[in-house]
Amino acid sequence: MKTLKLDAVDNYDFAVKTASEILKNGGIVAVPTETVYGLAASAYSDDAIKAVFTAKGRPQDNPLIVHISSLDMLRDIARDIPDVAYECAKAFWPGPFTMVLPKGEKIAKSVSGGLETVAVRFPSEKTICDIISTSGIPLAAPSANTSGRPSPTTAEHVIDDLKGKIDAVVMGKDCTVGVESTVVSLVGEKPRLLRPGAVTVEQLRKVLPELVIDDAVLEQLKDGETAASPGMKYKHYAPKTDAFLVEGCSNSFVNFVNSKDGCAAICFSEEYYSINVPKICYGSKRDESSLAQKVFSVLRDIDSFDVKEVYIHAPSKDGVGLAVYNRLIRACGFKVIRL
Ligand code: TXA
Ligand code: MG
Repeated sequence: MKTLKLDAVDNYDFAVKTASEILKNGGIVAVPTETVYGLAASAYSDDAIKAVFTAKGRPQDNPLIVHISSLDMLRDIARDIPDVAYECAKAFWPGPFTMVLPKGEKIAKSVSGGLETVAVRFPSEKTICDIISTSGIPLAAPSANTSGRPSPTTAEHVIDDLKGKIDAVVMGKDCTVGVESTVVSLVGEKPRLLRPGAVTVEQLRKVLPELVIDDAVLEQLKDGETAASPGMKYKHYAPKTDAFLVEGCSNSFVNFVNSKDGCAAICFSEEYYSINVPKICYGSKRDESSLAQKVFSVLRDIDSFDVKEVYIHAPSKDGVGLAVYNRLIRACGFKVIRL
């Protein structure tokens, strides 16, 4: 299949119009959002959704997020919507926030991988919202990477993974947030955080004081345990290089990596010049948002270093740091070294 590249920087209107046409005709198109690039398909078309699963190599039981461009569309996606969902929408939409609600009838079965619930997000990025409004259809979109690889935060990442497997890529700017949306389930007895993101626990608790943090956010599922969010059970975001998450202060981290042969480091800007092994900086330890923005691109870049092992300095779990830590611990297959 030839993958069309649609330039959304210099030829925005044409890119939006063409992407909308392809999606209306049942095609699959990668589009930028503020979090990561998504691989979009009509949420009403089972065939288009199946093509998304195939292109990504994604397990069929891992459900997709449906994207909307107005609050009115929510009623087409979900049913029995509780008042608290509207309170969340008021506080966090448009933006990097997804809620899980009882599934509406029109949504294609394969979107939810057999579940009775559906995940919904109203993004803030203009491109995807314009494509949803122009096509008039809600778009189911997982991250536009090959399943298991780091999520794509640039159009080039999408091309690297999916060229020849999808109809088109809307080539927009790099994603500003860099980690996927915060996912909260509103279908259980208490609201439950399934995946941390740029909307932080502190912000969520102002609207959802009873919020429970699912064990899968920071821990590996035990054998036989069912994941509240199926995506949490798979190995994720992994570079090809064997990766370890390292917890400790800057001094200990620098001494640790400098004492190792044949490794590389992913570090903070503050310690960059003290490290003697091949290294990439992913932002400042005092600015978790900067770490979020670069975390997936450094996980891709590290493979070009041609080393056996990479040691990644763990961020704090405060604010957006929790989301970065959650992605890194998966990228490292839960291998953590505490100094
Ligand atoms: O920021 C984002 O959320 C990006 C952009 C493209 O919007 N999308 C994204 O999609 O990250 P994906 O498919 O990579 O992750 C969706 C996550 C998975 O962990 C999945 O298991 C969970 O949401 N999920 C989807 N539907 C669910 C449901 N009905 N119940 C529980 N978890 C669900
Ligand atoms: Mg994903």
